[in-house]
Amino acid sequence: MTASRSGALKGRLRPPGDKSISHRAFIFGLLTVGTTEISGLLEGDDVLRTGEACKALGARIERLGEGRWRVNGLGIGSILPPEETLDFGNAGTGARLMMGVVGGHGVTARFDGDASLRKRPMRRILDPLALMGVEILEQAEGGRCPLVIKGTSGPTPIVYRTPVASAQIKSAVLLAGLNAPGETIVIESEASRDHTEKMLCHFGAEVAVAAEGESGRRITLKGRPELRPAPVVVPADPSSAAFPIVAALITPGSDIVVEGVMMNPLRTGLIATLIEMGGRIETLDRRVEGGEEVADLRVRAGPLTGVDVPAGRAPSMIDEYPILAVAAAFAEGETRMRGLHELRVKESDRLAAVAAGLAAAGVSHAIEGDDLVVRGKGEAPGGGLVATQLDHRIAMSFLIMGLASRKPMAIDDSRMIATSFPTFQPLMMSLVAQFG
Ligand code: S3P
Repeated sequence: MTASRSGALKGRLRPPGDKSISHRAFIFGLLTVGTTEISGLLEGDDVLRTGEACKALGARIERLGEGRWRVNGLGIGSILPPEETLDFGNAGTGARLMMGVVGGHGVTARFDGDASLRKRPMRRILDPLALMGVEILEQAEGGRCPLVIKGTSGPTPIVYRTPVASAQIKSAVLLAGLNAPGETIVIESEASRDHTEKMLCHFGAEVAVAAEGESGRRITLKGRPELRPAPVVVPADPSSAAFPIVAALITPGSDIVVEGVMMNPLRTGLIATLIEMGGRIETLDRRVEGGEEVADLRVRAGPLTGVDVPAGRAPSMIDEYPILAVAAAFAEGETRMRGLHELRVKESDRLAAVAAGLAAAGVSHAIEGDDLVVRGKGEAPGGGLVATQLDHRIAMSFLIMGLASRKPMAIDDSRMIATSFPTFQPLMMSLVAQFG
């Protein structure tokens, strides 16, 4: 797929539902007795895999209309052993959260996924689960998928300090802790996205969140709650909104509105950074929808300046560095993104994949330790072919670059875009982007 220089982008669009909340909506539906109604669900491959896994564990799931789903769950302690391998495709979040669910129940399940998921480290999940009494019956080298987990119907409540700021680790422990007879406590030294905690409260669990140190949190969950069905309204995904936002900033003459974007402060690091760079992003109509703050964002093209992005901001924009690197290429001056070690274990080694993409586009850059440095010149030559490495965000980022680079940008594989943003192409085309 190729993207070439576009005229000004104009119009309004609503990105699809948030991926993190959509995965969790299915999982909470499974763990709640009764009917959970979901609206605005992201119907991307990753989330649908989680839905399939919930069905294999005993949930009944029906699609009622676009983004509208109904889940009939079995409740905590009552999930069924799956007959087949749980295949999560490309979805790290689905696989890791579900390992927590299975770990906290007396069932055995085999977890697998595509070539990208098979490379991702799972020991970070297996280690705390083992402390809770979970057995790992089979695993590929280095604690990777395919792996077989034997859960326990009486998980030990633990106090666990996450070794890296990761909502996936935190969530796996909390989900296993749902069936523990006592308090499960997760401590994180940097706060990561808090959707699991918020949804636990929304479904009636007792969760206490306290500050820990300067920017960390301590989350205490009381085990074996009776979750009550509660409707889930999924706001638009800020990680998907990032693509049209950066497209409009770098494509001369653009003026767009991105609607309903979730403004949870643990997800808005990219917007803060782009505004620091001089990005013309205006927040319109801030409101609360489905328990999350959302806003419409008006974005206009204009000059950007390089900035220094502190490592402490990484958890609030962890998935947005590829598209920030694209914005940085079009800025004047150096942008340094600090502390990106976690990028090496995403859907691809994103640090390497972004650097290779920038090289293909003729953009000056360097990896220095865990930092990515992009030396922006206000424009990008383009004209390269990018290897997407089964990574949806690499694919979309470099297509967005092609809308404003001098020569077109091509990617080798666009299939993975459907994992998180299946409507990427038609929505961008509706703003007059030139994809071929
Ligand atoms: C997610 C957490 C993040 C993020 C991923 C979604 C979640 O991963 O990269 O896309 O929904 O919990 P980590 O928790 O491993 O940083």
